[in-house]
This record gives sequence, structure tokens and C-alpha cells, in this order.
Amino acid sequence: MPSLALTWGWESQLLETGFLGIFLCPLWTLSPLPRGTPTSRIVLWGFRWLIFRIMLGAGLIKIRGDRCWRDLTCMDFHYETQPVPNPMAYFLHRSPWWFHHFETFSNHFLELVVPFFVFLGRRMCVLHGALQILFQVVLIISGNLSFLNWLTIVPSLACFDDATLGFLFPAGPGGLKDRVLKMQEEETREPQAPLTCGRMARRTANLALGVLITWLSIPVVVNLLSPQQVMNSSFNPLRIVNTYGAFGSITKERTEVILQGTASSNASSPDAEWEDYEFKCKPGNLRRRPCLISPYHYRLDWLMWFAAFQTYEHNEWIIHLAGKLLTNDAQALSLLAFNPFAGRAPPRWVRAEHYRYKFSRPGGRHAAEGKWWIRKRLGPYFPPLSLQDLKGYFRSREWPYPEPS
Ligand SMILES: *[C@@H]1O[C@H](CO)[C@@H](O)[C@H](O)[C@H]1NC(C)=O
Repeated sequence: MPSLALTWGWESQLLETGFLGIFLCPLWTLSPLPRGTPTSRIVLWGFRWLIFRIMLGAGLIKIRGDRCWRDLTCMDFHYETQPVPNPMAYFLHRSPWWFHHFETFSNHFLELVVPFFVFLGRRMCVLHGALQILFQVVLIISGNLSFLNWLTIVPSLACFDDATLGFLFPAGPGGLKDRVLKMQEEETREPQAPLTCGRMARRTANLALGVLITWLSIPVVVNLLSPQQVMNSSFNPLRIVNTYGAFGSITKERTEVILQGTASSNASSPDAEWEDYEFKCKPGNLRRRPCLISPYHYRLDWLMWFAAFQTYEHNEWIIHLAGKLLTNDAQALSLLAFNPFAGRAPPRWVRAEHYRYKFSRPGGRHAAEGKWWIRKRLGPYFPPLSLQDLKGYFRSREWPYPEPS
């Protein structure tokens, strides 16, 4: 399931980054590092190798995955169909075709060519880091991929050495820069610091890390080279060295699942008034401005995005959610932005409708009415359900039956 694969990929990227981060610290003390303990090259190369795999994996899965990445049209769809668009996406969606082509081409350049800069010496590595950070910032501005973009910036920093980062610190006599320079000069003049027990242990740990990463990288490289590349996967139980890359294919059309409730006793009566629930971020109400959430990640909103291009049978949790809404469950409702049944009896029936959503045209008729979206009903997503109806469904899945409040 794509939703699981994606969440899995994020967790793994977090795990791997954090694991390498451990080796940046002194082994058993948080006191200042003893002199002569520079950041291990092995750990730095671990980070560089990580960002290389993240970017190249993402680039390869795209050109192998979807025609629109090869004919450069993916960006015609991306802004509208990405999980949770932000206000910038609304406007970027209307960019001219040549700009969308340019964006897609730049994406390939950044994911397929730039990663190799890591291996081309100090200057190219710095250029790589700068370009990757710029790329992630552009992604943050144009959408809500949330903490993933921020997380991807972290290993990109491993290309920046003291000389590159110097401009961030105050210069002048007695300044931090000055003091560091003096320390570095002293170090090169002094004979090798004695090999203490701590330094030995640290060196051994780093060396072991290097051997481990190299060993675990073999299946990852084989996968990257394989035409049947798998996305977001690990070849070891500890998930230390993984393969990344998602969104190989782009959804061409945006569909939304809209949850509704009614207080009417008869769900099939034409008089029944259905009222929409509203999520924190995902599109629903046509007049609501797309949200800005990065780096926060609204998990439920993302799951609703995946649910919209599958069926409720693939996403049984949505029936579970419907059960909670039928009792005005406070915890479940805290995940939503608007409950039409707040402060009154819970709905008698809850249903989900399937809609196609498109951005309105800026300056057009719908935009003039304050609508960011236009939508067309495709059909039911799941039929009207009452608490009574769900008894058997909940029991067969061993879910606690929601108690009517
Ligand atoms: C519910 O409404 C439908 C449509 O108006 C009607 O056919 C049906 O008999 C009603 N059911 C009940 C239980 O009133």
C-alpha cells in the first residue's frame, strides 16, 4: 500500500539520519570534545552517502515510473494533485507549460546529476549541498510535504566545512572565528595527541560504522541499478541503510473523500440535510484557502488523500472513524477542523461522498465568488451508516464498539 510505504520511508529516513547523528557526539560524555577529535570523516561520508541515495533513488524511480517524468509534463498535475496543496500551489498550477517543463527538467537535474557532485571534491560537494537545500526550500514553499523536506536538508549539511560556514560567525580579533583558527593552527603544530582510551574507542566505533555501512550498501546499490527498482525499502532488519524514492507516478486527477452526517432519521429521504465535516488541512469547503503546515505533518489528512484513490475496503480505518463521528467522539473530533454537530446530538447517519476537485481559475468566475476549488460529485464512497449498522463490522474486527454518549 502506498500510504504505508511512504510513512515507512519517512520513518526510515529519520532513523538513518538519527543513527548517523549519534556518531557526531562524543562516545560517553556530553562535555566538550577533547582537542584532536575532529568530526570523523567516516561519519561525514555516511551523511553524504545518505543524501546521495535519497536523491538518486527519488530521481531514478521517477524516470522509471511515469511517462510524465519523461515527457516533462508531471508538473502540469503535481500542484493540484499533491497530498495537501498550499496557497502557492494554487498559483503555480497556472504557470505556462514551458515553466512546468523547466521545473520537471530541473527536478531531474537535481535528483539525477547533482548527487554525483558529492564525489567530485570539496567545491562541488559544497555546491551540491547548496543546491539541495535550495531545492528543499522550493519544495517547502510550493507544497506541504511537511517534515520530510526539513529532514532531507540535514544530511545535505555534511558538505559544508568550517571554511564554508565561516561567514556565519563573527570575525575580527578575539572573535569566535579567530579563536578557532588559532586552535587549528596549534593542533597542526603540536605532535599527535596521545591516543587515549576514549579516542581509541571512538576511532574503533567509527571504523566499525564505516565497514557496516559499506556492507549494508551492497543490496542498496544493486537495487538502484536494477530496472525493477523497489521504492522505500530496507534490506536489513535495523533499517540503517535503506533505499528511498517515492512518487514515481503522479496522480493526474484529484479526488476527495468528503465525510458527511445528517440528523435526519431517514438517510434516504430527499429531505435529509447532509452536513460536511472539515479536516484541518485537506481540501473540503470550496471557499477555504489551502493551508500552510510545513513542517507539521497532519497524518489523517494524508491518509484521506490515499483513501481517495482507493476504496473504503482498502481503508477500513475510515469506517472506524465514521463510528467515532456517530458518537461525537471528542478524541476523533480533535483531529478535525470543523464538526457540524458540535454542541448538539451526534448525527444519526454518517456517509462519505467521492468528489473530483480542481483549482478554480485565478481571476475567474469561481474565484470571484471566493472559491479556491470547484468540485464535481463522482458518487458515494461509502453508504449512509448508523451506529446500529456498524455493530457487526466493529465486532468482526475486534474494535471497541463506540458507546453512544
Ligand atoms: C425514507 O425515505 C424514502 C424516500 O423518501 C422512503 O421511500 C422510505 O420509505 C423512508 N423510510 C422510512 C423508514 O421512513
